[in-house]
Amino acid sequence: MSTSKVAIVTGANKGLGFAIAKLLCEKYEGQVYLTSRDNQRGIKAYEELRKVGLNPLYHQLDITDNESIKAFVKTIKDNNEEVDILINNAGILFIKSPEPKVYQAEQTIFVNFVSLTNFTEAILPFMRKSAKIVNVTSSSGHLSRIPSKEIKEQFSSEELTLEELKSLTNSYVEDVKKGQDIDKGWGDSPYVISKVAVNAYTFLLHRRLSSKGIIVNCVHPGYVKSDMTFGAGTLSPSDAASVPVSLALEATFGGRYVWHNGQDVPWNGEDPRKYIDGKKV
Ligand SMILES: NC(=O)c1ccc[n+]([C@@H]2O[C@H](COP(=O)([O-])OP(=O)(O)OC[C@H]3O[C@@H](n4cnc5c(N)ncnc54)[C@H](OP(=O)(O)O)[C@@H]3O)[C@@H](O)[C@H]2O)c1
Repeated sequence: MSTSKVAIVTGANKGLGFAIAKLLCEKYEGQVYLTSRDNQRGIKAYEELRKVGLNPLYHQLDITDNESIKAFVKTIKDNNEEVDILINNAGILFIKSPEPKVYQAEQTIFVNFVSLTNFTEAILPFMRKSAKIVNVTSSSGHLSRIPSKEIKEQFSSEELTLEELKSLTNSYVEDVKKGQDIDKGWGDSPYVISKVAVNAYTFLLHRRLSSKGIIVNCVHPGYVKSDMTFGAGTLSPSDAASVPVSLALEATFGGRYVWHNGQDVPWNGEDPRKYIDGKKV
């Protein structure tokens, strides 16, 4: 049986993920898996694309659930599919939520970072040699968002392993539990730590996989009108989808942190919200 090439988008039932899946269906010559943690919401999104003449595949995928990851990986294996594109888009953000900070920190790190890595590591053996991975990060993933020089150095060490990175984020959660996160220089935002960790993972994966020809980048999609932002934002999901999709289709080298205007930004430089978005920060 011959293999067929596929693209995967996580968290694709709505918002940016849905727009990315739609644009990929329009532009990519292989098949596109629209995945979602909730079957009903996912199938509704799948049917929406079918209605406009597109032809995605659908699979349930909750990246926090190992059984769900296993079932999806089994489908890829059983169908003899090779993963050509992986777009890790699924993510959460607590905004003005009543939940205790410890809960917010645990959940945000678990979904945005730990589960993203768990899914990626599980799917890696099924990736083609020239595959591309795009991690959807944020402006919050910029190193300048962390006050402590020491913590920044730990995240950006060229020798960092995934185990060390996970243990660094565990230390963050432990410091939140002890009420010491601000004093120790992590800053005040679990989302920032989760997305800085996504960036660190992008760069370490790039170091690990570049000899295999797999290209790994991360992208800040801009301020996108979605449920995450309660509809606020400067970009529609479909406008914001274009840079992640072009990275998935056309990137020729990895290890990059790309901004919503397509510009590469140095991770350890000045906060790009200043010089790209003209924001006072
Ligand atoms: N919106 C912005 O301004 C902005 C800016 C920078 C970065 N981002 C990033 O862009 C990505 C997409 O955000 P968005 O604005 O489109 O947000 P959104 O509308 O809230 O969509 C998030 C998606 O992630 C899914 N998801 C959450 N937990 C999941 C899990 N455990 N397994 C699988 N899927 C899960 C959600 O599924 P359900 O529908 O089931 O909840 C939903 O499909 C996120 O990574 C976000 O951090 C967004």
